[in-house]
Amino acid sequence: MDADVKDVSLAGKGRERIEWAEGEMPVLRLIRERFEKERPLEGVRIGACLHVTTETANLMVTLKAGGADVALCASNPLSTQDDVAAALSEAGVPTQAIKGEDNETYFRHINAVLDTRPQVTMDDGCDMVNVIHRDRPDQLDSVFGGTEETTTGVIRLRAMAADSALKYPVVSVNDADTKHLFDNRFGTGQSTIDAIMRSTNLLLAGRNVVVCGYGMCGRGVASRARGMGAQVIVTEVDPLPALEAAMEGYRVMPLLEAARIGDVFVTVTGDKAVIRSEHMQVMKDGAVMANSGHFDVEIDKTALASLAVSTRRIREFVDEYTLADGRRLHLLGEGRLVNLAAAEGHPAAVMDMSFANQALSVEWVVQHHAELGPQVYPVPPDIDAEVARLKLRAMGVDIDTLTEEQEEYLQSWQEGT
Ligand SMILES: NC(=O)c1ccc[n+]([C@@H]2O[C@H](COP(=O)([O-])OP(=O)(O)OC[C@H]3O[C@@H](n4cnc5c(N)ncnc54)[C@H](O)[C@@H]3O)[C@@H](O)[C@H]2O)c1
Repeated sequence: MDADVKDVSLAGKGRERIEWAEGEMPVLRLIRERFEKERPLEGVRIGACLHVTTETANLMVTLKAGGADVALCASNPLSTQDDVAAALSEAGVPTQAIKGEDNETYFRHINAVLDTRPQVTMDDGCDMVNVIHRDRPDQLDSVFGGTEETTTGVIRLRAMAADSALKYPVVSVNDADTKHLFDNRFGTGQSTIDAIMRSTNLLLAGRNVVVCGYGMCGRGVASRARGMGAQVIVTEVDPLPALEAAMEGYRVMPLLEAARIGDVFVTVTGDKAVIRSEHMQVMKDGAVMANSGHFDVEIDKTALASLAVSTRRIREFVDEYTLADGRRLHLLGEGRLVNLAAAEGHPAAVMDMSFANQALSVEWVVQHHAELGPQVYPVPPDIDAEVARLKLRAMGVDIDTLTEEQEEYLQSWQEGT
């Protein structure tokens, strides 16, 4: 496959930034060193549809070190780092990704990767799995299996499996504890706030920040916004996370109420049409809306456009919509995941764990595909535990071990008062 990147001359800059991220990814480095010796992926063709970032670049290099032939495209039209795409292509990972590509180019790039007839697919949002099942079913027989990175993708895969539409096994990397408890929370939390600050330069202290959805990502965004001095309001549809948010000290209320007082809104639900026309109609002048959920459907962009009498791009990644009464509402990163569109995505130290799970899950699929059915599989618990153990070791953190007496005690039912 040929590369299709914005500008090959950016490769040098990309190389340096990939090297910088590598310094924060010690677990992936250990896996790469083992892969170099053992070559567990020798000759395996991998098609990856992931955010093209410095961290993904290190994952690609790890898979290649294991002997795989890898081709990469973007999992979102706005998340590509063009210098990384250039550097990867130069380093022998043909990459088809250009930041800001239109929908047609986005799907052309996915199809170009599928032209390499991958035996393993790696997805972030399930678009590659969708395209191969819908448009290229003749290729399904040659696929061993796949991996999926994010909550939204796993929801789509489970729906496919329930309809018997899924034709090969996929490992739900998102469900590993060492993924969603860290990446979704600490990664999305920090990088979403980073993106809002980079794109707007707003002072968050003293502002009302409304977080829609208090799942793993919402917990992270809410806690980091509070850390910046914001007054955080949470909206939810599920009583359990809503209760947790209330006990964490956040104000919890319906979005229609929050819409009147919020300064900054962040959606992280995995749902659609969360912020709708009725909410926009009561928002304050200057309100800022950002989405960090997977698809650009959480904020109803069509409703926003039809409410507006004029629009302009007032800053990079900030679109200003002026309503008939003169109020101005701002949408960041075109409503696409803001942390990747307007910042750099998760810090490498957290992607280290997510991508360690990815690399080890690919190895597991290659080793076990003959025994697996067309279902969604969890990351094997020993892989999850190994990633946590390696990360602690890399951080120089030691923990205690159970004494024999404690092991016995924890397994017995006879001892008590
Ligand atoms: N930006 C990133 O880098 C990044 C990273 C990880 C995950 N994600 C994406 O973020 C989204 C959320 O992921 P998660 O792991 O937090 O999911 P989650 O399932 O843990 O949490 C989602 C929460 O949103 C709530 N919700 C659903 N509809 C709602 C509505 N209309 N109003 C208010 N709350 C609503 C749910 O009750 C749930 O508590 C997914 O799309 C996921 O793919 C993005």
